[in-house]
Amino acid sequence: MPIIERIHAREVFDSRGWPTVEVEAVCRGGRPARAIVPSGKSTGRAEAVELRDGDSDRLDGSGVRRAVENVRGEIAAALIGNDAGDQQAIDRRLCDLDGTPNKARLGGNAVLGASLACAYAAAEALSVEPVEHFRRLWERLPARSPSSFESPSLGGGPLLPLPMVNMISGGLHAGGNLDFQDFLVLPVGAESYRQALDWTVLVYRRLGRVLDSRGYEGRLVGDEGGYGPKLARNEEALGLLVEAIGAAGLRPGEDVALGIDVAATHFHRDGRYHLAATDGDALTADSMIDLLERWVDEYPIRSIEDPLVEDDWEGWTRLTTRLGGRAQIIGDDLFATNPERLRRGIELAAANAVLVKPNQIGTLSETFETMRLAIDAGWRPIVSARSGETEDATIADLAVAAGAGQIKIGSIVRSERLAKYNQLLRLEERLGDTAAWIGGRVLHRTRD
Ligand code: PGA
Ligand code: ZN
Repeated sequence: MPIIERIHAREVFDSRGWPTVEVEAVCRGGRPARAIVPSGKSTGRAEAVELRDGDSDRLDGSGVRRAVENVRGEIAAALIGNDAGDQQAIDRRLCDLDGTPNKARLGGNAVLGASLACAYAAAEALSVEPVEHFRRLWERLPARSPSSFESPSLGGGPLLPLPMVNMISGGLHAGGNLDFQDFLVLPVGAESYRQALDWTVLVYRRLGRVLDSRGYEGRLVGDEGGYGPKLARNEEALGLLVEAIGAAGLRPGEDVALGIDVAATHFHRDGRYHLAATDGDALTADSMIDLLERWVDEYPIRSIEDPLVEDDWEGWTRLTTRLGGRAQIIGDDLFATNPERLRRGIELAAANAVLVKPNQIGTLSETFETMRLAIDAGWRPIVSARSGETEDATIADLAVAAGAGQIKIGSIVRSERLAKYNQLLRLEERLGDTAAWIGGRVLHRTRD
């Protein structure tokens, strides 16, 4: 049994230079193992609370020393001597110790760091790779119904995920004028993860050239490494992506499809969607749905994230009814990786996919619970990074272990992104046939 012997935490920095929590744990007979917590910028209201110091003397109050102290003190005291192999018990303990519904007391950053570090320490002590340990934890969750996806099914065995890769960044993540946050490519026709990455790299390079040739800045990038050009309209980004895919010798739609993360909450005020890049000025929910429907008609879009504000449940249901058969509709801010919110979304058919960010909910077990719930309902989980990231590659191992089928990491440059893409390359090589590639088939539904 991997008994926790020591837990330590320190403040380190993320890809935006913001302080974040790193936790180290050691189990009896094992070596120290660590996890680093990421940080979002376009955060949903329902997310676990990220505890920051708030005192303006140091780093404008952005420090996480209080969260670090919580790990070193209360959390370490509660976990030392416990079995790190029983992740559910560890995470229950963390939730009980915090005592709030959103980890507001100890901090979601403190709690997630501890939860993940314990999982890594258990893997070390048991002498198994993290992906294998995650796999065992995932398999302990009861599956409530047979998966409705074609074989190999989501959640049924390790899968190498289809990456959804940011090419053009806007919204809160870039200095340009685009309202929509991410314009992404999905290499749906690739025959392996490796090929998917090759194609994506090529499209990214061609897009840089296309931007330069049009007189746009093809070198400046946003927080996640996507280009951040000043375009006249959001829609222009879609045309440029189609052109870049063609310039890479690939077929738009068949080889490489498009996705968007609208992140609509961040330009929604007073019941309207306020678009600065003029695709229409202040849109109602229904005119936003009309706009997106026209785009789905005109461009090979297969995935739409956060198309409406995070509390318009009825609007989401209307949108999913209209577009859900043609594109996956992903709730990010809407669900905040929260099983309770996801349950409500499933009842209302408010989407058909959920973004899964461990730090939105705060423990590994609750992250798995959300994924299991989604798959059991015939929805797709997409494991996702945050805009503030680090060298921690946990989400790569998680996505493979749970058979999520898709991953969203940001763009294909910047080492905090490549830490995950490269880990997936290692896993592809190491796991061989035990980790299947279903690629773009993840977007087909076989449910009647
Ligand atoms: P965030 O962005 O990490 O800033 O929330 C990522 C996303 O919205 O998908
Ligand atoms: Zn999002």
